[in-house]
Amino acid sequence: MMRSAFLGGTLAAVDSVPGAAAAEATQSLPMNFLTGYGDRAFPVVNLTWGVLAISVIVVIVITALLLGALFRRRPGGWAHDPARLPVSREGNGLPWISIGVGISTVVLFGTVVWTMTTLSAVMEPDEDTALTIEVDAHQWWWEVRYLGDSPDEIFTTANEIHIPVGRPVRVRLVGGDVIHSFWVPALSGKTDVIPGRTNRTWIEASEPGVYRGQCAEYCGLQHAKMGLFVIASPEDEFEAWREAQLAPASDDIAEDAARGREDFMRNCSACHTVRGTPAGGAVGPDLTHVASRRTIAAGTLENTPANLTAWIEDAQTFKPGNRMPTLDLEGQTLMDIVAYLETLE
Ligand code: CUA
Repeated sequence: MMRSAFLGGTLAAVDSVPGAAAAEATQSLPMNFLTGYGDRAFPVVNLTWGVLAISVIVVIVITALLLGALFRRRPGGWAHDPARLPVSREGNGLPWISIGVGISTVVLFGTVVWTMTTLSAVMEPDEDTALTIEVDAHQWWWEVRYLGDSPDEIFTTANEIHIPVGRPVRVRLVGGDVIHSFWVPALSGKTDVIPGRTNRTWIEASEPGVYRGQCAEYCGLQHAKMGLFVIASPEDEFEAWREAQLAPASDDIAEDAARGREDFMRNCSACHTVRGTPAGGAVGPDLTHVASRRTIAAGTLENTPANLTAWIEDAQTFKPGNRMPTLDLEGQTLMDIVAYLETLE
């Protein structure tokens, strides 16, 4: 059930990005690392295919040689007759060992050079970066902070990284609790997120679309449910999204949502932030624009009112071990809080 809810979230996400069809492959294979999109990914994907091809050829050649050796019959069948074992043999296999070692050395050396060249090619983007994003990995979600030249350009969101298509974006990976690894297979290789350190990487998407990412370093119970999405859209759409995210939560809300806001402040504000309100908790994700996100709980559930209600009611059912407590809220309170959260677009 949770699996299908998760897939539903992924597919629903696709519908809402105009032009997303271009990158259809990234969605139909959510963790596809055999096709790259963007300058950060192209050299890595080429290397992946190249090393894969070399490995397959090596396996085929070794298998053929091994089978040849196994089934090769020596004349006279001496091996079955100890009395006829030769005391000495003419020649030996040494030249073949030299040939084998020589070929392996050349191939392995070539692979090392190719790998080093690739690493250096993807180290830094060729052109100026569009923006810098700070990603803070938590058990088990991603805090995403958009940095800017002035404080009023900075905002925080969670589990979704929006970027303008065709522009390189710097990602600063801030390590918090345990070691995680930032991985968006179609856009970049893995970069570890290590406590007490700040690692750097960058991403670029050559086509609009939704690219799924995943924590790639075992980090505890819900490591598998530490997903993220990179959403690449044309520059103007990205700017519109950014403007909307910069805005604080709207005050103009219906009666039940207003009640829900009071309940939210009482029950949830110690852990969650909603900009423009007294809620300033830093334990859980910033919820200022939670309703604009595709999923809740880092890709675990599609972001619908029903799922949000179920999640708040008992988050431990969906993601056991996560830090969201079960609050035993009364039915009406729960519904009001959801009504309030749905206004946070
Ligand atoms: Cu975070 Cu695995």
